[in-house]
Amino acid sequence: SERDSLFIVSDFAAKHYVQRLHGHEQGSIGQSYLKQRGLSAATVKKFELGYSLDEWTDLTDTALKAGYKQQYLEATGLTIAREDGKKYDRFRGRVMFPIHNVSGRVVGFGARTLKSNDKKSPKYLNSPESEIYHKSNVLYGLFQAKQAMRMQDMCYMVEGYLDVLSLHQGGIENVVSSSGTSLTEGQIKLISRYTQNITVLYDGDAAGIKASLRGIDLILEQGLNVNVVTFPGGEDPDSYIQKVGDTAFKAYLQEHAQDFISFKTSLYAEEAAGNPVKKAEAIKEIVASISKIPDAIKRTVFFRSCSLIFDIDEQVLISEYNKLHLQGR
Ligand code: UTP
Ligand code: MN
Ligand code: MN
Ligand code: MN
Ligand code: MN
Repeated sequence: SERDSLFIVSDFAAKHYVQRLHGHEQGSIGQSYLKQRGLSAATVKKFELGYSLDEWTDLTDTALKAGYKQQYLEATGLTIAREDGKKYDRFRGRVMFPIHNVSGRVVGFGARTLKSNDKKSPKYLNSPESEIYHKSNVLYGLFQAKQAMRMQDMCYMVEGYLDVLSLHQGGIENVVSSSGTSLTEGQIKLISRYTQNITVLYDGDAAGIKASLRGIDLILEQGLNVNVVTFPGGEDPDSYIQKVGDTAFKAYLQEHAQDFISFKTSLYAEEAAGNPVKKAEAIKEIVASISKIPDAIKRTVFFRSCSLIFDIDEQVLISEYNKLHLQGR
């Protein structure tokens, strides 16, 4: 079938990029980049990282010569066909991160430029959607993480490819990323096959905080439990674990894990202090998140906790909830 053909050509491409990384003279550029990012040979092997040559048609030519059909190379987005009929490789001169589905088959790629500040092309390129790659239903690292997720009964959510790789290498194997998209309902459903507990570890910048807030509500809505760990400004999980080391990083996670109410409370605490209007806004924000929780008992427990933190009557919170609920949440 068409799907099978897309799986087969994706698998070929993944092996091709691995061969280019290890068996081609240009591959040393990719290798030294990965080394500079602190990744070990074992991690590179486990995640089947590769390298795409800085040439226009290396993959396309090799695949066609080996008998793979143009049609499938295009359907997976590996080859781009221009209007004038000329064909070229989508990924060139980049470190390649194959993206696996739950059963371990390659469905797409993320690809990082080696240039540190190239304004002309994006830092990461990703495969387009295809018959085998539906971005909203795939999580980077899930195939490698799922056993640990079950064992630890918890899943760490990070933003990027390198975050997954560095944590995994540091012994934190229950980690996935929604790489290239914002977290979706489908991705949370995938996680919920293995655990009901998610800890969000997004980048310590404004975008990361914003994504955490959005992620929290989505996770709560699906009935899962969510904790959050934030990182000092400018750090992401990858840069932070590379900086402080595995042991200190794990201790940091233990010490800084917050439930979503404490996270939101501390986020708004500074401006809420001594400002009743801001305090009221903070409470409403938190009530809005609690209102997403489908389970009535959990909701009640969180209303109690919110009422204690802000010293506000629980009944007031519940009537605010009823108001939101009547509006359809
Ligand atoms: P970041 O900008 O935080 O990148 O984007 P990063 O993962 O820390 O990358 P490094 O450390 O500089 O290598 C987080 C994620 O968003 C997606 C990628 O999945 C990336 O890992 N992204 C980012 C893109 O898809 N395209 C981009 O141009 C940038
Ligand atoms: Mn489909
Ligand atoms: Mn970021
Ligand atoms: Mn980052
Ligand atoms: Mn990073």
